[in-house]
Amino acid sequence: MERAQAVAGPTIPAPDKIQITLVVNGEARALKVAPWTSLLDALRDHLDLTGTKKGCDHGQCGACTVLVEGRRIVSCLTFAVMKDGAEVTTVEGLETDGTLHPVQQAFIDHDAFQCGYCTPGQICSAVGLISEGKAHTADEIRELMSGNLCRCGAYPNILAAIQQAMGELVASNQPANTRQGARP
Ligand code: FES
Ligand code: FES
Repeated sequence: MERAQAVAGPTIPAPDKIQITLVVNGEARALKVAPWTSLLDALRDHLDLTGTKKGCDHGQCGACTVLVEGRRIVSCLTFAVMKDGAEVTTVEGLETDGTLHPVQQAFIDHDAFQCGYCTPGQICSAVGLISEGKAHTADEIRELMSGNLCRCGAYPNILAAIQQAMGELVASNQPANTRQGARP
């Protein structure tokens, strides 16, 4: 039996790239992206901010968590063009003048990582969690951090780190989710 020949259809031109501006870690960054570029790829591939990690690339692992307008989101499920003009904070932007954010410091204090691949997402998610103010007990922290997976199983140390940072930030009345929140 003869195979039917594939017939080439009309070529559909790719849509133009779109000019956007993201305020990343306090700095306005202009970039041109395809309409389908995720915020994650915009950060990593266009702005060289490779601290934010790509794990699953479909919203299941939390490795790509960043803060947009102070709220945690998974950047792999967000188109960059949707965030034109928005303020984005990545793990690179949490420290201030060489001083680590209390959550970053607590992760070091508690050795809250093994391979470290999930860590930037864990830290950004924890910063968002603390500023939401909904988690008070260990179980509530575990529940509200459940979108951030750690294949190394560093969960007990991650929990201890978040509890330490939460205690410090609440005691000092500092906002957790701004770069200013990192100031001692
Ligand atoms: S890379 Fe975004 S949730 Fe896994
Ligand atoms: S430290 Fe390895 S995945 Fe979390």
